[in-house]
Amino acid sequence: MEKIYQYIKDHATTPSEALEWVEKQTHIRTNHPRMLSGAVQGQVMRMIAQISGARDILELGTFTGYSAICLASALPEDGHLDTLEINDELEDLIMEGFDRAGLADRIDIHIGDCKETLQKFREEGRTYDLVYIDANKREYCEYYELIFDMVRPGGIILADNVIWDGKVCMDPLPQDKQTLGIAAFNDMVSKDPRVESVIIPLRDGLNMIRRKA
Ligand SMILES: C[S@@+](CC[C@H](N)C(=O)[O-])C[C@H]1O[C@@H](n2cnc3c(N)ncnc32)[C@H](O)[C@@H]1O
Repeated sequence: MEKIYQYIKDHATTPSEALEWVEKQTHIRTNHPRMLSGAVQGQVMRMIAQISGARDILELGTFTGYSAICLASALPEDGHLDTLEINDELEDLIMEGFDRAGLADRIDIHIGDCKETLQKFREEGRTYDLVYIDANKREYCEYYELIFDMVRPGGIILADNVIWDGKVCMDPLPQDKQTLGIAAFNDMVSKDPRVESVIIPLRDGLNMIRRKA
């Protein structure tokens, strides 16, 4: 698996210098570098954003900004990305990465609990073409409810880690809150008549959901 992943990485478009910098700093300066989405998933998401023609993007869970840079680099010049992160200690690293990528003017970071920020965005009437869900795994169902009306008809929702190391299809299902949260989310999406969806077996699983027009 490692070998094939390396092969795929070697044959994908090379990440920018800014992305290489963010990845390196994430390993040096954080305790959980595995949370970073990485070169292959980043390139897939960048291409989804590009192909869909997204102009306004929302991300839940910035971490060190890797996926935000991938998504924002697909935006047109007048495009915009809002990214939500609860950990204020990451802000300096995130901002430096956005600067190095030349994307600081297209990205706004909102520090705080994303459920509160989302409530505020709803009241402000914000809308998006693409939403990437990658924050607290226990809360994916709540995020889905909060963001759904903000997704434009025909828009896309991407949700990360939906395979959760294979735990979502164990029998019996592990009873930890993260596994239960993701399993409930996948069930909810697959039964939602307002969308079409498929889980892409990329890294830890990416649920690609399209709001019907
Ligand atoms: C898996 S990491 C995100 C990785 C990033 N999207 C990437 O691909 O490089 C999840 C992030 O969500 C943040 N997070 C967790 N709960 C949150 C919440 N309630 N509100 C905002 N951010 C949250 C964590 O602090 C962490 O940085």
